Amino acid sequence: MLVLGLESSCDETAAALVDGNGLVRSDVVHSQVAVHAPYGGVIPELASRDHVRNIGPVVRAALAQANARWSDVDGIAVTNRPGLVGALLVGVQVAKGLAWGLGKPLVGVDHLMGHLLAVFLERGEAADKPRFPFIGLLVSGGHTAIYRVDAPTPEGIVPLGGTRDDAAGEAFDKVAKLLGLGYPGGPAIERSARDGDPSRVPLRAPMASAASCEMSFSGIKTQVAQLVANRSTPLSAAEIADTCASFQTAVTTVLARKTVSAAVSEGVTDVVIGGGVAANRALRERLAEAAERHALRVFVPPFQSCTDNAAMIAYAGATRLLRGERDGWDLVAESRSILRESTRKGRGRR
Ligand code: KG4
Ligand code: ZN
Repeated sequence: MLVLGLESSCDETAAALVDGNGLVRSDVVHSQVAVHAPYGGVIPELASRDHVRNIGPVVRAALAQANARWSDVDGIAVTNRPGLVGALLVGVQVAKGLAWGLGKPLVGVDHLMGHLLAVFLERGEAADKPRFPFIGLLVSGGHTAIYRVDAPTPEGIVPLGGTRDDAAGEAFDKVAKLLGLGYPGGPAIERSARDGDPSRVPLRAPMASAASCEMSFSGIKTQVAQLVANRSTPLSAAEIADTCASFQTAVTTVLARKTVSAAVSEGVTDVVIGGGVAANRALRERLAEAAERHALRVFVPPFQSCTDNAAMIAYAGATRLLRGERDGWDLVAESRSILRESTRKGRGRR
């Protein structure tokens, strides 16, 4: 089965062709970073308009990269939640048109499910894959939560806890903005942190105890805001690097500690991370160290599958199509996520 995936929930226009085993035949991502960078964050109206401009060429590029014809496509999968509604609508309407025109089945995909399953994508080399149930840490610009994933279905995903305020990626972006490092903040903070000493600037993430999967990242952002506001002169490059190193250490330590602790208390040996912040090397290293101490196996997608892409959407869609699931023409762009709603219900579980 060959599935065409479309992703347009935020600031990446993406299309990919993936088979039912997760083999990536093509993976095309058009980033809107240059469009939004002058504003220090994503402007929804500009995002929608840029998706409209680029989705056609991106889909054609995905077909060409896979050396595939329209007749090779067995189904269409599209992100239909959560995200910016105007942006989601572009992908959803294009997917509906293609499915109708080609006479192929259509499925909507929860973007968060895509991130949780991105680790199953393959690019030619056979790699070890996680076994269900696993603990999934989802860390992106809009979401930060820990799940026990029993199966690749909405019912198979048990929320164990998550952030009460900012997502981890959002904190990276806001701290980068405060420090004048530009957008997107995650990679900029990671770069600057390499030259910094984390012990020079005392920053702490609240709710750091491993006993619960609940988290909070807005307080640490406020600590950086105060640090900047209390200065009469701008921070030097060395001070910025120290602040980045301290912030990154505090956030990644909490994420790694809580994820490993969840695996231990759930009696699960495999841990998976997904979402844009999973591209962060400090997080990967911290998780690997903590997991080694507890004999856990950590699975991390390659860098290009951590940030938004359509290959993960195609694969998550393929799991639905292979189960015989189909969505009708009433498929709409829903900004709320099934997974996020269940996270709220799951609060206090641990
Ligand atoms: O998953 P994603 O591409 O989009 C959402 O679904 O939100 O995640 C984007 C987020 C942004 O907040 C970005 O700053 C963060 O992921 N990010 C990183 C890194 N690369 C991207 N955060 C920390 N370190 C990175 N290397
Ligand atoms: Zn994402």
